[in-house]
Amino acid sequence: SAAPSPWPYPRWIAHRGAGKLAPENTLAAFRLGAAQGFRMAECDVKLAADGLPFLLHDATLDRTTNAVTQFGPAASRVAGEHPWAELATLDAGSWHSRAYAGEPLPTLEGIARHCLANGLLLNIEIKPTPGTERFTGEVVARHAARLWNDAPVPPLLSSFKPEALEGARASAGHLPRGLLLDSLHGGWCAQALGLGCVAVVLNHTLWSLETVREAKDAGLRCLAYTVNDEWAAQRLLALGLDGIITDRVDLFSPG
Ligand code: G3P
Ligand code: MG
Repeated sequence: SAAPSPWPYPRWIAHRGAGKLAPENTLAAFRLGAAQGFRMAECDVKLAADGLPFLLHDATLDRTTNAVTQFGPAASRVAGEHPWAELATLDAGSWHSRAYAGEPLPTLEGIARHCLANGLLLNIEIKPTPGTERFTGEVVARHAARLWNDAPVPPLLSSFKPEALEGARASAGHLPRGLLLDSLHGGWCAQALGLGCVAVVLNHTLWSLETVREAKDAGLRCLAYTVNDEWAAQRLLALGLDGIITDRVDLFSPG
């Protein structure tokens, strides 16, 4: 198998920085997740119109920024249609709570520097603006390879989009990749191996004795999202999962 041995990542991963306790995919969330004991975080990354990688989950700006008031009703809601210079002016914290008013959208570079300076590991979920899958994978992986050039542990790249993983492989094939799946199809392990992935990251309800065995037999590491209750976590730990992505940085305390 292509999986690094030993696996360099901790079992517990803070979803979007700190789940729902702080505004998702912001530096404030990363600080909170780390303060809760998480040594690794997941975040969603896409490209601004000028190609700069930054953190945002949705394709549109409406839910987690003040774009509607800041840019006006006529402006595009699609994040990837705005250059970074415009996105940098947005408030990505007020939607969550007043305590986070003014929190900006982070660039991948800003988050990389924060992680490297604080000994935090990162799972970069490549979340392309629809229609830009391969290009986003190429660009995000190229930036990640440069930013983590001297780091002992590289970021784990993941995506639901096979084209994004192909792009990442083409531009920085040495960075580890994981295939995200929300449902299983025949040949799911073969698909991950075909993409040169070292891991599969499944909706946690899909993991069972059978699926764990199938992945492990293929030499793939087993990760799960998004695990938010104690019972589900215990089930996955008993199955021997390698990674558990959770919103509940308040509930689980990573050893
Ligand atoms: O990377 C795992 C998880 O984040 C995938 O779902 O929608 O929260 O990005 P989503
Ligand atoms: Mg995600």
